[in-house]
Amino acid sequence: MPSSQFAHSERYRYMNGFNSYHESEAVDGALPVGANSPQKPPYGLYAEKLSGTAFTAPRHENQQTWLYRILPSCGHSNFEPRESSTYNTNPENKPYEKIHHIPNQLRWDPFDLDETVDWVHSLHLVAGAGDPTMKTGIGMYIFAAGKDMDPHEAFYSADGDFLIVPQHGVLDIRTEMGRILVRPNEICVIPRGIKYRVTLPQGPVRGYILELYQGHFQLPELGPIGSNCLANARDFQAPVADFDEDTESEWHILCKFAGHLFQAKQTHTPFDVVAWHGLYYPYKYDLGRFNTMGSVSFDHPDPSIYTVLTAQSDHPGTAVADFVIFPPRWLVAEDTFRPPWYHRNTMSEFMGLIQGQYDAKTGGGFQPAGASLHNVMSGHGPDAATHEKASNVELKPNKVGEGSMAFMFESCLMVGVTEWGLKKCQKVQQDYNAESWEPLKPHFKRPTPKKIENGAGEVNEGVLGDKAQVPHWTS
Ligand SMILES: [Fe+2]
Repeated sequence: MPSSQFAHSERYRYMNGFNSYHESEAVDGALPVGANSPQKPPYGLYAEKLSGTAFTAPRHENQQTWLYRILPSCGHSNFEPRESSTYNTNPENKPYEKIHHIPNQLRWDPFDLDETVDWVHSLHLVAGAGDPTMKTGIGMYIFAAGKDMDPHEAFYSADGDFLIVPQHGVLDIRTEMGRILVRPNEICVIPRGIKYRVTLPQGPVRGYILELYQGHFQLPELGPIGSNCLANARDFQAPVADFDEDTESEWHILCKFAGHLFQAKQTHTPFDVVAWHGLYYPYKYDLGRFNTMGSVSFDHPDPSIYTVLTAQSDHPGTAVADFVIFPPRWLVAEDTFRPPWYHRNTMSEFMGLIQGQYDAKTGGGFQPAGASLHNVMSGHGPDAATHEKASNVELKPNKVGEGSMAFMFESCLMVGVTEWGLKKCQKVQQDYNAESWEPLKPHFKRPTPKKIENGAGEVNEGVLGDKAQVPHWTS
């Protein structure tokens, strides 16, 4: 089935296409024709430009949007710090937060739901690298919330783009560009600076966020795959313009700026955009629409074949952030160890599980709402039970991951783990290695040396190391 079956039905309309130039107007004629900033925009609206890249960024990278709104965003009081001693999501903003750079493989039990907080206060930085003030690096979060944001609050992050992966519950996100419903097995990207308010129509929510401090997410190059497959551009959905008229209520604008929370007041809704056009907007994607590729002969390709979205570093092919999924798929490779091989990578890998059981970890320790981190050059692979099973199973065509969706935030950066992620959350499994890999048994058996005939009718006892013992020796 090339789409997910959701328990919670869709309630909004969208425009389709990744990195497509969209335009949307909630009132006919609200978009000026031709000009972006006429002397008098239609219906007395203000024109406001929101830039997601430098003005002079190359055309293929340039992301800007023109907003036509009842009042411009700048009409608000000064920003004041809020929860300044407790709210910190900046991984390099020492000494407020101690960051642990450790080579241990880490795995977390499922993170708890928290019904006492709203979206803004649900964000827990688990790991990260870089610094939003330098627009470098990433942050990896767990969120768990049980309350709607206040009806007169809006939030934005000045630090980066949020890639949101819900694991439990439903997010109803009202953004400046319109409304988006996001359910488990869907993801949503809200670019830097775009204001939004999150409500929870199905009660408590929980999930994961990858915040990208530099650049924006792109679809991966397809190379020899061709012009289709993996995540197809047409399946990304952007909201349509939707506005309120409210120029009397007091609104609180909450801002995450260098990892800290600030608030300003204004007497008009930020959700007053009557029309917009451009390339800089929030969007969502159903992971069930991912067209998964794989081997139809032997071995399996690198997991980069499962990349949904990527953000490249300055070095092409090396990603600051890849969002990779492990969807239900057929494994048919012959004479192949089908789970992931054992490996140590220059990349760091943070994994989560939305639902079901991940096919490379069947020991029960990697559960939905849990996570794992395999940092730069830290060895990992299938647990002992999975290795045993996969080494002996009959290699018929086999569908794995049915009803499951694991994912990975992969980065070329070495990530540090926060004090919350390592200690305060109290979810780190102390026996991850002892349970997963220390039980692996050696299976190596020295071959018995063959007797070698020397050509003169004499037979010598062979010894290991003799080139005649090597089956592939051809000279
Ligand atoms: Fe890995």
